[in-house]
Amino acid sequence: MAVLKAALVFVAVAVFLAYYCDEPVPQGIAEPRLFAKVVGMMFKTAKNLAKLAEYVGVGTQPRNTRSIVNALIGVGLKLQGTSYREGLQISDATFNGVKVRVYTPESAAKSRTKVPGLVFIHGGGWVLLNVDGYDPLTAHIAKQLGIVVVSVEYRLAPEHLFPAAFDDCVAATKFFLQNAELYNVDRTRIGISGDSAGGNLAAAVTLALTKEKGLPKLKTQALLYPALQALDFNTPSYTDHGHLNTLTKDSMVSFWLWYLSNDLSFKEVFKTNNHTSEQLKKSQYAGYVDHKVVVKSVKKGSIKFPEIPNVAIILDPRFAPLMADDADFKGLPSTFVMTCEYDVLRDDGVMFAKRLQKAGAKVSHDHYKHGFHGFLNQFDVYESAGTAMQNYLGYLKKNL
Ligand SMILES: *[C@@H]1O[C@H](CO)[C@@H](O)[C@H](O)[C@H]1NC(C)=O
Repeated sequence: MAVLKAALVFVAVAVFLAYYCDEPVPQGIAEPRLFAKVVGMMFKTAKNLAKLAEYVGVGTQPRNTRSIVNALIGVGLKLQGTSYREGLQISDATFNGVKVRVYTPESAAKSRTKVPGLVFIHGGGWVLLNVDGYDPLTAHIAKQLGIVVVSVEYRLAPEHLFPAAFDDCVAATKFFLQNAELYNVDRTRIGISGDSAGGNLAAAVTLALTKEKGLPKLKTQALLYPALQALDFNTPSYTDHGHLNTLTKDSMVSFWLWYLSNDLSFKEVFKTNNHTSEQLKKSQYAGYVDHKVVVKSVKKGSIKFPEIPNVAIILDPRFAPLMADDADFKGLPSTFVMTCEYDVLRDDGVMFAKRLQKAGAKVSHDHYKHGFHGFLNQFDVYESAGTAMQNYLGYLKKNL
């Protein structure tokens, strides 16, 4: 009997695993395709465990997801060792009250001429990850380019709603621009960069600081598969790739909502674009996302929204940089946008690059036909991500 029971359990587990692991990975994703599958399965597992824990009364989904992801990354970092940090002076500091980590290559510390600097803002949907999880990436950038990198430990949602993360990134960036000399950095050669939600924040900070007087100008912004709009969740990239577990449409909408209001009861409403009115769907803002929309210009103040907490914020460029008007793009520094085909955020980046170009800004757009969301963090193990990293560093080298 015991044997039969064990066999039944075994079969049940095997069937479950076969079903659970049967992740469809698109043919076009870069080889080895198994890699994207494993990354996707890890996110799916973290999400399901986090939800399950919340369901049985342990924590909340966003906090649980954060703990699980941090634990997984912690194991990865332990296995990796710390040799990647050799040749760098790394210290934690506070810039205008915001925690940051500063990476200074020994060559830059000793250099008799000032070196360029880069503010880096990590991704994770405004909810997950931290400076620690990005340590290998930020160290790599500093080392490869011989520049000082400042990684920002901004406050996370949903504990801190918009604009907390934005405010922290502005405050830290301003401090670095104003006190660059303390770090042997040339204040006229400071750029800003970030991936995913960090790309959102980098773009938002750049838009805001371009308008500030009496501050050194940012030299460049480099946005890696940024999230730039919460107006339309049915863009072709959301529709085509919303099922990919490396970043599902469901997760991305959840992240936006945790950042906006921490009210996920509106998730289905956002997923079906029912958070915007017909008037807004035909306004210039819709045209910012999809240039095929025939638009009728409307004043921001006259736009009506359904009864949803904080929903009007989706038109605020500090929240969603793609909602900036063309006039806001005046004076922007040279811009790099990286997009991946297998990413719900592809069209956000594509449209931003197009709009900047049209507005006369200097834009470089790298698109990875076989790339997927978040792949750059795997630059040292995933060949196509290594190539993307080279191109990103090449851009920064030329433009800082
Ligand atoms: C979205 O709006 C459509 C049309 O009004 C409606 O049929 C649908 O039930 C709504 N869905 C959600 C999730 O609100």
